[in-house]
Amino acid sequence: MKLWAGRFSKEADKKTNDFNSSIATDSRMFEEDINGSIAHATMLAAQGIISKEDGAAICEGLEQIKRDIISGELLIDPNAEDIHTFVEATLTQRIGQAGKRLHTGRSRNDQVAVDVRLTLRKECDALYALVKGLIASLQGKADEYKGAIMPGYTHLQRAQPITFATHLGAYVEMLTRDLGRLEDAKKRMNVSPLGSGALAGTTYPIDRAMTAELLGFDGYMKNTLDGVSDRDFCIELASALSIIMVHLSRLSEEIVLWCSWEFKFVELDDAFSTGSSIMPQKKNPDITELVRGKSGRVFGDLITLLTVMKGLPLAYNKDMQEDKDAIFDAFDTVKICVDTLIPMIDTMRVIPENMRKAAAGGFINATDCADYLVSKGLPFRDAYKATGEIVALCIKSGETLESLPLEKYKEVCDLFDSGVYEAIKLENCVKRRGM
Ligand code: ARG
Repeated sequence: MKLWAGRFSKEADKKTNDFNSSIATDSRMFEEDINGSIAHATMLAAQGIISKEDGAAICEGLEQIKRDIISGELLIDPNAEDIHTFVEATLTQRIGQAGKRLHTGRSRNDQVAVDVRLTLRKECDALYALVKGLIASLQGKADEYKGAIMPGYTHLQRAQPITFATHLGAYVEMLTRDLGRLEDAKKRMNVSPLGSGALAGTTYPIDRAMTAELLGFDGYMKNTLDGVSDRDFCIELASALSIIMVHLSRLSEEIVLWCSWEFKFVELDDAFSTGSSIMPQKKNPDITELVRGKSGRVFGDLITLLTVMKGLPLAYNKDMQEDKDAIFDAFDTVKICVDTLIPMIDTMRVIPENMRKAAAGGFINATDCADYLVSKGLPFRDAYKATGEIVALCIKSGETLESLPLEKYKEVCDLFDSGVYEAIKLENCVKRRGM
């Protein structure tokens, strides 16, 4: 039986019912839905809108439903329209008349908005902890290989020497900003829409501050139309999640490169790599490639949310039911990516010799050579040009800046003396940069 049975003379068409239903997605909010209802019923009783006895019966009934769903005793009906309908119908089935009073002064429009906010608050906390874990893994790896020198790149061309710790440290910074974005979005999300009703509030003497407090919100949304229409928090979170995926995808891309024979800076543990069905020699960094690929899903979820919302007149429209699929998928995807990356990073073997070897080619200390001439009094532009000539000379004669004899240096610029060799030592180059 539908909630709106009074106005309708027919049952819904089966396909239409399935199309309209969101139970497959919103079942995961059953605890939040029940908690929201308990807060609402508690407030209704405290305000004398329903009797104390009915309030108590509703709250007990809801607690029991929660326990039964968790234990598996009560199965959520896949044919129900949504979780709100299912919980309310089950309650009324179990406790009778009192159950029918639960929805007094409330609409599914403010109810669903509460549920999503509560669910995403939980998701935010879970993801926050995971991202912190990934930061710890990256920091741990950086500390483990503190002295390792590698080429830093621009345009994927060897540019200047850096330490591996600095390279991983960049990701620590990015992910730390991600934590800030999650916290920030959560703060704005954590206000209660309950009491907004369908759109225009309610005529009952409800206490919105009370339900907000019972549910751990920082306050309630003042404008009831906004209360039921707003999905900014989904969009903000999907943006924050998309940025996290940009970071994970860039890290993944680098690990893919580093695993290749062309680089061989790292080796992934066998437990976190895959082989080929035909090429016996292969060891593929599938995990990182999947993370890189899954970034597309999350960006897609963000675009879904933006597109769903952009043309909607106030207040609630059924289009908004699509919000949950998108934002839950985004959270699930980012969580599994972070969770999978953590042990992969923890067990990743770093090969500092290969990094050092790569850093020795490609004249990545040329800037330091020029800076050395500057320290001798030459203007930087002239020092740059002289060093360029020296690099050209090295390339022609198969030398490196380290191996080129001092006479050759002096032929290009007589300010060079034997101190240049200390100045261009990679260890000194990174030390001077405070790495
Ligand atoms: N299943 C709906 C959703 O997820 C709940 C709100 C329904 N409200 C309504 N007026 N049909 O958005």
